[in-house]
Amino acid sequence: MEKKSKVLIIGATGRLGFHLAKFSIENFHPTFVLIRDSSFCDPNKQDKIQSLSTAGATLLKGSLEDEKSLFEAVKQVDVVICSIPSKQVLDQKLLIRIIKQAGCIKRFIPSEFGADPDRTQISGMDNNFYSRRSEIRRLIEAEGIPYTYICCNLFMTYLLPCLVQPGLKTPPRDKVTIFGDGNTKGVFVKDVDVAAFTISALDDPHTLNKVLYLRPPGNVYSMNELVETWESKIGKKLEKIYVPGEELLKQIKETPYPDNMELIFIYSIFVKGDHTYFDIESSGGMDGTQLYPHLKYTTISEHLDTLL
Ligand SMILES: NC(=O)c1ccc[n+]([C@@H]2O[C@H](COP(=O)([O-])OP(=O)(O)OC[C@H]3O[C@@H](n4cnc5c(N)ncnc54)[C@H](OP(=O)(O)O)[C@@H]3O)[C@@H](O)[C@H]2O)c1
Repeated sequence: MEKKSKVLIIGATGRLGFHLAKFSIENFHPTFVLIRDSSFCDPNKQDKIQSLSTAGATLLKGSLEDEKSLFEAVKQVDVVICSIPSKQVLDQKLLIRIIKQAGCIKRFIPSEFGADPDRTQISGMDNNFYSRRSEIRRLIEAEGIPYTYICCNLFMTYLLPCLVQPGLKTPPRDKVTIFGDGNTKGVFVKDVDVAAFTISALDDPHTLNKVLYLRPPGNVYSMNELVETWESKIGKKLEKIYVPGEELLKQIKETPYPDNMELIFIYSIFVKGDHTYFDIESSGGMDGTQLYPHLKYTTISEHLDTLL
């Protein structure tokens, strides 16, 4: 059997990180998880920690701020995956320095797992959401650390359960707001599927120093297509209210930060087309569904069925 890389996951008690750790173990990677002291004491996290330990993960105590624990953890592995929340991405700077010092890391997958920060077209209006991620990319590249960036676009838990209706928690059944002309396509992928693609990529030479884009067939929909699909599932036509891009921009300006971030993401995805406006090939990236056709994933239609 081919030798599997040893993997360190930072953020394994989180939503995505837990799936990453599970898949890493299931795929026979010796798996190490760096857990903060506070998490060991948190009853909500203990089940996850126990389940990872039972499945075979090596538990290490430490945090992104604790240089000693970080160095000891990094020295034991070949691959580091970081899955900390987006507002903390700059906290990866010490980790990057330590990866450089340790000199043993064959692949680093930084915390991104969204749209490609170097290709979004909303600079100046995203409150540095994407520029922070680009800053981390440039640091990794400047240090010469081997990397893969995962651009999975949106998790299905975001915006899809409300059919892209700000303020709603469930899909509408009477009327629906469509942003822009409704024809620009966005991408939704289930977090558990993002984890499966990520773990498949970490030992793959095709993804070395590349961006792995996820645009699975069945998961790339415009707002018009989302609404049509939902209408056919509920057997009813919805009243449609179209909000042009300029009107959405006005709403974004009138809504204070951070409440306006949801509108900003909608503008980026469904007006500017930031998930799909460029070809993967021309960007020098790789398409996850072409590289790993054996991986099964949940489609948008299947996810909408769960909301009926
Ligand atoms: N595309 C999308 O729609 C989308 C949506 C959500 C998230 N994401 C991405 O998914 C990734 C993970 O997000 P998530 O929502 O799964 O995060 P999450 O559930 O909030 O989990 C964050 C994890 O990071 C750990 N952590 C935080 N600060 C740390 C530190 N200083 N040292 C060590 N560990 C630390 C937490 O540990 P504790 O248990 O100790 O707190 C937890 O395990 C991020 O890259 C985010 O951008 C993408």
